[in-house]
Amino acid sequence: MNTTKKVAVVTGGNRGLGFEASRQLAKQGYQVILTSRDEAKGKSAGIKLKNEGLDVISQPLDVTSDETCQKLAKFIDNEFGKLDVLVNNAGVYIDSQTGSNSIFDAKVDTLKQTLETNVYGVLRVTQALLPLMKKQNYGRIVNVSSGMGQLTDMRGGSPGYRISKTSVNALTRIFASELQGTNILVNSVCPGWVQTDMGGENAPRTPEQGVDTIVWLATLGDGGATGGFFRDRQPIEW
Ligand SMILES: NC(=O)c1ccc[n+]([C@@H]2O[C@H](COP(=O)([O-])OP(=O)(O)OC[C@H]3O[C@@H](n4cnc5c(N)ncnc54)[C@H](OP(=O)(O)O)[C@@H]3O)[C@@H](O)[C@H]2O)c1
Repeated sequence: MNTTKKVAVVTGGNRGLGFEASRQLAKQGYQVILTSRDEAKGKSAGIKLKNEGLDVISQPLDVTSDETCQKLAKFIDNEFGKLDVLVNNAGVYIDSQTGSNSIFDAKVDTLKQTLETNVYGVLRVTQALLPLMKKQNYGRIVNVSSGMGQLTDMRGGSPGYRISKTSVNALTRIFASELQGTNILVNSVCPGWVQTDMGGENAPRTPEQGVDTIVWLATLGDGGATGGFFRDRQPIEW
């Protein structure tokens, strides 16, 4: 399945922002690997985009599983021999599942579960796939964060989610710093409040609007920003 196209992986690609980011990257000429923890859901999302005439294939990836990360890395190495773009999009927002959204009753288990996906998931997937970028000295890594993780605007409620997104931003800074001097750029993005299962139907932004900055960061030219946090294509405070 060799390709002259740039190859992009999107995590949590079966719905919401991940699905739309897969669509928009494929529209820009990328070979997209849409990944999903539920293989059947990933397949049907991939087929939907293929039917739109887009170069999208699906692969299983549960970001909480080292095994599926390694399998994906092997698959990409065998099929394409490289990776150009990684969109770390998969995420959960489970704070209020226990009935309260306050830090006063926050359950450590809820925080652990949130970090397992939103933070360690990003670390795991990035560590597994980075060698495929390093070997060609090219890569664009986009970590889908949130304004809810901004320390400069930190408020109450949703402690697990907030802490996880602050931590994702730390991962962005650390990876970007250790990749200084390479052509692998790592940035965080806040997509705004978007109409997805997570964002709900009252959100003001469509998924297409929500992925604009994600796709912009995924397609940055050489010498572009790294170690930054962006919304609407503009740097924002940490
Ligand atoms: N929507 C917003 O307003 C908003 C605002 C700021 C930031 N964000 C961030 O944007 C990203 C996408 O959110 P969304 O709004 O598109 O949410 P969504 O509609 O709830 O989609 C979340 C996606 O993540 C996947 N996922 C969850 N756990 C996973 C795991 N362990 N392994 C692989 N995939 C997993 C889900 O898969 P399943 O279908 O299998 O559950 C789903 O594909 C998240 O990181 C979120 O925090 C969203």
